[in-house]
Amino acid sequence: MNTAEPLLQLQNITKNFGAIEALRGISFSIDRGEVVALLGDNGAGKSTLVKIIAGGLEPTSGRMLFEGREFLAKSPAEAKAAGIETVYQDLSLCTNVDVVANFFMGREIVKHYFGVPILQEREMEAVVARAMANAGTRIPSLRTKVEHLSGGQRQAIELNRFVHWGGKLVLLDEPFAALGVEQTRRGLEMIKQVAAQGIGVVIITHIMQQAFQVADRIVVIRQGVVAGDVRREDTSPDAVVAMITGGTLAGAGPAQVENGAVTMSGG
Ligand SMILES: Nc1ncnc2c1ncn2[C@@H]1O[C@H](COP(=O)(O)OP(=O)(O)OP(=O)(O)O)[C@@H](O)[C@H]1O
Ligand SMILES: [Mg+2]
Repeated sequence: MNTAEPLLQLQNITKNFGAIEALRGISFSIDRGEVVALLGDNGAGKSTLVKIIAGGLEPTSGRMLFEGREFLAKSPAEAKAAGIETVYQDLSLCTNVDVVANFFMGREIVKHYFGVPILQEREMEAVVARAMANAGTRIPSLRTKVEHLSGGQRQAIELNRFVHWGGKLVLLDEPFAALGVEQTRRGLEMIKQVAAQGIGVVIITHIMQQAFQVADRIVVIRQGVVAGDVRREDTSPDAVVAMITGGTLAGAGPAQVENGAVTMSGG
């Protein structure tokens, strides 16, 4: 395997919904261990793109290369099997069972005694404890039902489960929208730790501060095309706002950065 090649390459991806051209030829790539923040105005096409990468939507045209090979997942399950997954805050966890059960979910450790399958609860708990500790996430008890955990804790479980089972590219669509300041800070830390293990991360956010805190690269989508693809250290929040709105830096444009969020004064 050539590790210098990008983890994922998008080539001219388009997506039409009837007469709506949601994506009009998107090309960019993501390296192993890289965090890419995907920014853009409402309706720019970010979620559509992420769904295509994760097998939830079929593109109208275009190619995707994953680890150098042509790959387009036909379903989220197929993407997941290849190591590409969308992490939601809690949607994919079963809230009525505990953390350990959620972590294993279909991959339980079972030993047979005289032909009788016995779930190896202690062994499984130890595996989860190690995985969560490595990630620096504290959960009061791994035997807690997920319904009693916070949004941030659920996200931590999802993300660590993904890493533990060999995930390679994780997609996060506005992962902190419902989280408080401290949980968001921890979530951003966790993303950096995940990337440090060689995993590629795509995070959609409307919060400029978050993008600058966590991303190695910022890709801006405007009306279905890539309006900017820059390394974080080579750009500024003002420059990114200009890319999002199509305004020029000097002309200020209709958008302003307020409390780190981009707000539009016009339609
Ligand atoms: N299933 C669908 N059917 C028809 N149109 C769709 C569908 N999904 C998305 N669109 C349209 O495609 C365009 C891009 O939508 P998308 O959800 O990708 O935007 P977004 O960048 O994620 O926006 P936001 O920041 O508001 O989440 C929009 O015009 C939207 O109305
Ligand atoms: Mg969206």
